[in-house]
Amino acid sequence: MNFIEALNWRYATKKMNGEAVSQDKVDQIIEAARLAPTSSGLQPFNVILITDPELKAQIAQVANNQSQVIDCSHLLVFAAWDNYTEERIRTVFSRMNAERGVPDSATENYVQSLLDLYLNRSAHENHHHASKQAYIGFGMAIAQAAILKVDATPMEGFDNEKLDVLLGLEKYNLKSTTILPLGYRDAAGDWLINLKKVRKPVENFVITLD
Ligand SMILES: Cc1cc2nc3c(=O)[nH]c(=O)nc-3n(C[C@H](O)[C@H](O)[C@H](O)COP(=O)(O)O)c2cc1C
Repeated sequence: MNFIEALNWRYATKKMNGEAVSQDKVDQIIEAARLAPTSSGLQPFNVILITDPELKAQIAQVANNQSQVIDCSHLLVFAAWDNYTEERIRTVFSRMNAERGVPDSATENYVQSLLDLYLNRSAHENHHHASKQAYIGFGMAIAQAAILKVDATPMEGFDNEKLDVLLGLEKYNLKSTTILPLGYRDAAGDWLINLKKVRKPVENFVITLD
């Protein structure tokens, strides 16, 4: 299955059958998110991995009781930084420089430009920017799941604030952006499975400027 075939195979699974995804596949899906490109390489988000049935049941209650949250074997929560701080930005560049064997002075001007930009913005704006980076990782994870023939349902149909409280994300200075149940489709019970995948025709999608 090539990449486009995998994207056609996947769909936003509405009913999962409870079968467990192997840890190796879950690891590859998370790795795709970790390898996502992000603005300035800051990776301003984390992935929270949840398998506990009791916790999944509690999450379903703040996610419109969507059954996939319970019937998935692994639930990924994508959570973005609540704000950009000098410490967070410097930590990223210190690690990058150490791994590359480059002195911090080499990136100091660039780091300063990021600090000038982000530290003058509100926490709300900064979290919004960080969330957009989380969505890139989310997309990568969805695509990697499809390549592995693992079903996944991209979700923002949940109460972010309630989920943040439930998971205690404040202590990590994170806020949830999206959730991704991973599992396998229940072919007999899923109303969406046989419906055609519908997208804009390419001629309405691409605007060619001559
Ligand atoms: C950011 C985002 C949030 C979504 N939230 C939900 C959700 O809460 N529940 C759900 O069943 N599907 C959700 N979907 C699935 C979309 O409805 C679905 O991707 C879209 O209709 C296209 O269909 P397909 O994914 O089956 O190709 C979401 C998709 C995205 C990308």
